[in-house]
Amino acid sequence: MPERLVALLLAAATVPAAASGLPPGRAAELETLVRQDCGACHGITLAGGLGSDIRPAALAARTPEGLAAVILDGIPGTAMPPWRPLISPEDADWIARYLLEDEE
Ligand code: HEC
Repeated sequence: MPERLVALLLAAATVPAAASGLPPGRAAELETLVRQDCGACHGITLAGGLGSDIRPAALAARTPEGLAAVILDGIPGTAMPPWRPLISPEDADWIARYLLEDEE
């Protein structure tokens, strides 16, 4: 098996929280959303920019439920927008767990 394919398979196997009830392929779409759309404000490594640091260490004290609520409804009075028009509550829950578990 080509080395690159092995690496891809390994990467897919280690995507955290991917075993949730999302439809096939949705987790990969959400991962891209986090890196690109969230990354536009929070920085491409999520270390902070216009938006705050949302890497696991910075969110350690937060619950997945609390983070999912912030993602769905945004933070009024700040640049953090509500994502409810674009993603489902299940999507937000996946993203919240992804943010908490991502080891990068
Ligand atoms: C238009 C810019 C912008 C985009 C896009 C954006 N955010 Fe934010 N986000 C912010 C800002 C600014 C804050 C800090 C608000 C404040 O001052 O409390 C924030 C705060 C947060 C917080 C709370 C952090 C904490 O410590 O309380 C989370 C979680 C978060 N964003 C996740 C996301 C996710 C996930 C996405 C993509 C689905 C996203 N954000 C997209 C600007 C953005």
